[in-house]
Amino acid sequence: MPVLRMPPMAKGFKHLFLVLAIIFILIHHSEQLQSSQTLTLLRLKLLLNYPDIISSWNSTIDFCNTEPTSQVTVVCYEDSITQLHIIGIKGTPLLPRNFSMDSFVTTLVKLPDLKVLTLVSLGLWGPLPGKIARLSSLEILNMTSNFLYGAIPHELSTVTGLRTLILDDNMFSGRLPEWLGSFPILTVLSLRKNLFNGSLPDSFSSLENLRVLALSHNHFYGEVPDFISLTNLQELDLEDNAFGPRFPLVGNKLVRLILGKNRFRSGIPSELSSYYQLQWLDLSFNRFVGPFPPTLLSLPSVSYVNIANNKLTGKLFENTSCNVELEFADLSSNLLTGNLPSCLSDSKDRVFLYAWNCLATGKENQHPLSFCRNEALAVGILPQHKKSKVSKVALSLGITGGIIGGIVLLGLIFIFVRRQNAKKTTNKPTTRLIAEKASSTGYTSKLLSDARYISQTMKLGALGLPAYRTFSLEELEDATNNFDTTAFMGEGSQGQMYRGRLKDGTFVAIRCLKMKKSHSTQSFMHHVELISKLRYRHLVSALGHCFECYLDDSSVSRIFLIFEYVPNGTLRSWISEEHARRSLTWAQRISAAIGIAKGIQFLHTGIVPGVYSNKLKITDILLDQNLAAKISSYNLPLLAESAGKVGHGTFALPKDPSNSARVSYDDKVDVYDFGVILLEMILGRPLKTKNEVQILKNQLQAILATDDVTRRSVADTAVQKSCSDQSLKTMMEICVRCLLRDPTERPSVEDVLWNLQFAAQVQDAWRGDSQSSEGSPGSPSQAPHLRVAFR
Ligand SMILES: *[C@@H]1O[C@H](CO)[C@@H](O)[C@H](O)[C@H]1NC(C)=O
Ligand SMILES: *[C@@H]1O[C@H](CO)[C@@H](O)[C@H](O)[C@H]1NC(C)=O
Ligand SMILES: *[C@@H]1O[C@H](CO)[C@@H](O)[C@H](O)[C@H]1NC(C)=O
Ligand SMILES: *[C@@H]1O[C@H](CO)[C@@H](O)[C@H](O)[C@H]1NC(C)=O
Ligand SMILES: *[C@@H]1O[C@H](CO)[C@@H](O)[C@H](O)[C@H]1NC(C)=O
Repeated sequence: MPVLRMPPMAKGFKHLFLVLAIIFILIHHSEQLQSSQTLTLLRLKLLLNYPDIISSWNSTIDFCNTEPTSQVTVVCYEDSITQLHIIGIKGTPLLPRNFSMDSFVTTLVKLPDLKVLTLVSLGLWGPLPGKIARLSSLEILNMTSNFLYGAIPHELSTVTGLRTLILDDNMFSGRLPEWLGSFPILTVLSLRKNLFNGSLPDSFSSLENLRVLALSHNHFYGEVPDFISLTNLQELDLEDNAFGPRFPLVGNKLVRLILGKNRFRSGIPSELSSYYQLQWLDLSFNRFVGPFPPTLLSLPSVSYVNIANNKLTGKLFENTSCNVELEFADLSSNLLTGNLPSCLSDSKDRVFLYAWNCLATGKENQHPLSFCRNEALAVGILPQHKKSKVSKVALSLGITGGIIGGIVLLGLIFIFVRRQNAKKTTNKPTTRLIAEKASSTGYTSKLLSDARYISQTMKLGALGLPAYRTFSLEELEDATNNFDTTAFMGEGSQGQMYRGRLKDGTFVAIRCLKMKKSHSTQSFMHHVELISKLRYRHLVSALGHCFECYLDDSSVSRIFLIFEYVPNGTLRSWISEEHARRSLTWAQRISAAIGIAKGIQFLHTGIVPGVYSNKLKITDILLDQNLAAKISSYNLPLLAESAGKVGHGTFALPKDPSNSARVSYDDKVDVYDFGVILLEMILGRPLKTKNEVQILKNQLQAILATDDVTRRSVADTAVQKSCSDQSLKTMMEICVRCLLRDPTERPSVEDVLWNLQFAAQVQDAWRGDSQSSEGSPGSPSQAPHLRVAFR
């Protein structure tokens, strides 16, 4: 600061002069940049090795009042630089060896009020120093096309006002850090063309203000985090990575969705057909399967659709319609059949590519119809994410209309207005022009995440089963010798069953369901996902599925469900069949009953939504090599559809109060069926009719009030000697209660289980007393497991 030296003068003058001097200094400084900042700019020029674009910078230039150019812009507010844009010539080579990114940033942070910093194509190289975070007012940082490497510095996380971070076309590497997802108002994150790898942090799901997420041309992999709650997301560009296999969950306000060149191999979710703002859709070069919804061509905003090089199926019609603004459609190299839509093929203004499908046209190379047919048959589809309903309320928020590129535009307006403000030297406080709405429409899908959680924990308990997967039709044909009659196990209301042997030698049971109504594979995703979760020790668990589709419209003709093969026959064959194998002991029967009850409990509560009304029959309970009971036939939703009827005992979502009444009822239906099985296990004779069951139940009820000897006399002769009085009584009691006419009086599954475990303990203790050689003390808190080895 200049020191004012006063000549000895009249005091009044002295004061006046002082005031004038101060005013002069104030005015001077409000128009002119602080000289220290001028020096900083000149130092930057030196460090950047005197690039041509800023060759005119010298100490006499009034930086704050020079006209901005497309390459260089300096914006001041009051006497400080708030924006600096230096955009070099594209392809600028590395700065010389003596360049130091560290010195450069050390100099840069002497412009402490910088809000917008653009340093593009300047040949900057080196790691980005953490001290860049000293620019604590930074809102927009754009360092595209340099040679920066290493990680994004952790210190940047303290710059909480950051809205836009663009580091495209550099050499940054490693995983993206978790903290990147915690910027409160990040709107644009663009990291295209770097060397990042790893999967995306889940914290990205909470970047609520994000509008643009561009990560193309990196080495990212794995599933894309759940973006449903990012209600402002307009552009998602993941091109050329290794993301997959599932279709990302994104909100319906998306304008640009670019998933090309990744490892996606799921179906296209049907919700996509309702993304009314979608303009740009690129799914090319993946392995998307299932039907291509032609409605995507007629979305109201769509102008670009590229699905080339996938395995999408479906039939196109001449009358398939297109949006007026559609300019580009590439459907080539898929498995599409039918005719060219005339809205595409007849238009000269549109680019339409369709080679290498099975379309009926002489113009472009096409495969024969059989090619698409064969390829489509073995199509496997991943279970989709559960649908998450997107709140419609969210639509009323914010400005409507496609604002693609809005960020860039807003950025420019921002710069422009700031400049105007600076010129007028207004003293208004800085107003944020990019006012973001922190919309917090929290549609937590707790139910769904619960389902995932539970199934995860259950999977851990699933004993030694291979992971659920899709099977190809060829694989199943090989396993069953082309569904030969020797592999045929039987046919019931639930379709035909075949026994198969996979290449690795494991036996499987294959259930084949013919679909009566025409449904796309898409519509079965939900069911298939549910089935994939039905894996439990006491269920015959699903190993995978396979869809067979009709050629013409890609609707599903047959579904194959592949289950574990349970070798030891039905429970009835161990109890009451005429030529029964060795009969189960009383302890084994209790153990089997516990297994069944646990299986029922899993069906009801182990997955969400629960599976009820399973029509359990003793012939559908199978025993494995350890004689553990497994429920082989439960209320698969698919079965209801294959039979052409939906509604009876299908999924009961707990949300709906009218349903919860049914839940408890359905719950008790299974308890009744369990009672019937229990009755057969106690009496040791096959029960054929409902009437018979009621009569025997009434007899049992009467006998319960009598004495031990009488009770024992009605039990299966095979177990009369080996059962303890108390355990028999307990089993009879619980059996009678299960068979009560009024469903509300029947016990809950938990109650049943508790009683059975009590019976098991009593039996165990009794065996310990009387047959000490055979028995072993069971731990009271655990369900007794079978200790009998079988030949
Ligand atoms: C780097 O070296 C060049 C000569 O190769 C020289 O002109 C320049 O001033 C040096 N830059 C710095 C920052 O020392
Ligand atoms: C600074 O640059 C301006 C314009 O480029 C030029 O007119 C002026 O002579 C330069 N001053 C010095 C001291 O180089
Ligand atoms: C990810 O990138 C880092 C840094 O380049 C590298 O060390 C690491 O091996 C890569 N990890 C994977 C899984 O590719
Ligand atoms: C399009 O044509 C197909 C047969 O070519 C017909 O089944 C369908 O109803 C038509 N759709 C419309 C919207 O006209
Ligand atoms: C960042 O810089 C690149 C290259 O100049 C430019 O294309 C892009 O629009 C800039 N983004 C913003 C938000 O300024």
